[in-house]
Amino acid sequence: MTAQLDSFYPTRVDFGTLDEIHRAAAAVLPAEVLDFVEGGAGKEITLRENLLAFDRWRILPTPMSGVGTPSTRTEFLGMPLQTPLLTAPFGGDALFHPDGHPAVARAAQARGALSVVPEAGSFSYQRVRAAAPRAARIAQVHPFGHAATVAARVARLGYEALCVTLDCPVGGFRTRNMANRFDPDQRHFAGNLTGEDGAPGVAEVFGQLLKRGGMVWDWSELAAAAAGFGLPWIAKGVLTPAAAERALAIGASALVVSNHGGRQVDPAPASLDMLPRIRAAVGPEIPILLDSGIRTGSDVYLALALGADAVVLGRAAIYGLAAAGESGVDRVLELLTEELRTLMILSGAATLAEIDATRITRAAA
Ligand SMILES: Cc1cc2nc3c(=O)[nH]c(=O)nc-3n(C[C@H](O)[C@H](O)[C@H](O)COP(=O)(O)O)c2cc1C
Repeated sequence: MTAQLDSFYPTRVDFGTLDEIHRAAAAVLPAEVLDFVEGGAGKEITLRENLLAFDRWRILPTPMSGVGTPSTRTEFLGMPLQTPLLTAPFGGDALFHPDGHPAVARAAQARGALSVVPEAGSFSYQRVRAAAPRAARIAQVHPFGHAATVAARVARLGYEALCVTLDCPVGGFRTRNMANRFDPDQRHFAGNLTGEDGAPGVAEVFGQLLKRGGMVWDWSELAAAAAGFGLPWIAKGVLTPAAAERALAIGASALVVSNHGGRQVDPAPASLDMLPRIRAAVGPEIPILLDSGIRTGSDVYLALALGADAVVLGRAAIYGLAAAGESGVDRVLELLTEELRTLMILSGAATLAEIDATRITRAAA
């Protein structure tokens, strides 16, 4: 049994590139699980746009910049980052590797990144936090009736911020899962959805996500719950200036500009395309994370140049996890950081703050 597991879930790493890690993940995951990861909603226009949006920008080389040892350090809501990377909250992590989010968080901690720990993960907030307390500092929650209860529980566990997913009151129209009749074992999503201590059961939340027509919060309901969070909270799934302003008006401390990796509204605009407008609307001081489509260090660079303070890795982290558990995620974080550092040298940016719109240009039409 062990031997079989070892060969199915590799733990050795000699990956040269992020593409190799992606291919290794694709080779190891069962086809319908791979579709669950790779897939988007509808015609998958947004899924494709999220990647293409990065290809429309170019980074300007700066010869003789004198920058030899750039710093990739920053912070997010007072939490230090050695590299501007956070791993995304993704549910069902044990479907990708039995070590799941505890392994993701350990890898993040070793690289000085942060991990956003999902409510619908395979492991509890407590387990993931215990595995890597310097990375597992943000807990994600879906805005259903129990959000304030979750906030109190994760605060007791030592979490410092809550990430509220605004863009998933029901699951998107995920065509690949529908074609596959994808029906994963719900236990993989039940790390926190235990039905105990005020937490809903996994069947209840799955019902809400899948049935379309249940209870969906509005801003005033979120405002009322957020007043009782007792933790700073991050609004995840903001794609318009209007939504950004609404979230900030009811007390959000930071934003994740995101279209959920193309898994919700399709066709929605690429996150990167909406980022400059949102940054302009909220001003320079509000911390902004960007996700949806980050696959390389150049993607990280472009997101920072267009207004993000750091980026969130969904599929890139999942590929690392599936390919080789903790060490796979570690290698993903290393390769992204090293490419970013290389580009900072070549473009003459000594700090992340120096990566701004003057260092990039649109591709020729
Ligand atoms: C398999 C999978 C599961 C996800 N589960 C969640 C979730 O439970 N909660 C959430 O807020 N976002 C979830 N997301 C969205 C990610 O947090 C993130 O927004 C998205 O993956 C970013 O896009 P990228 O994959 O292109 O990096 C999930 C994404 C994937 C791929």
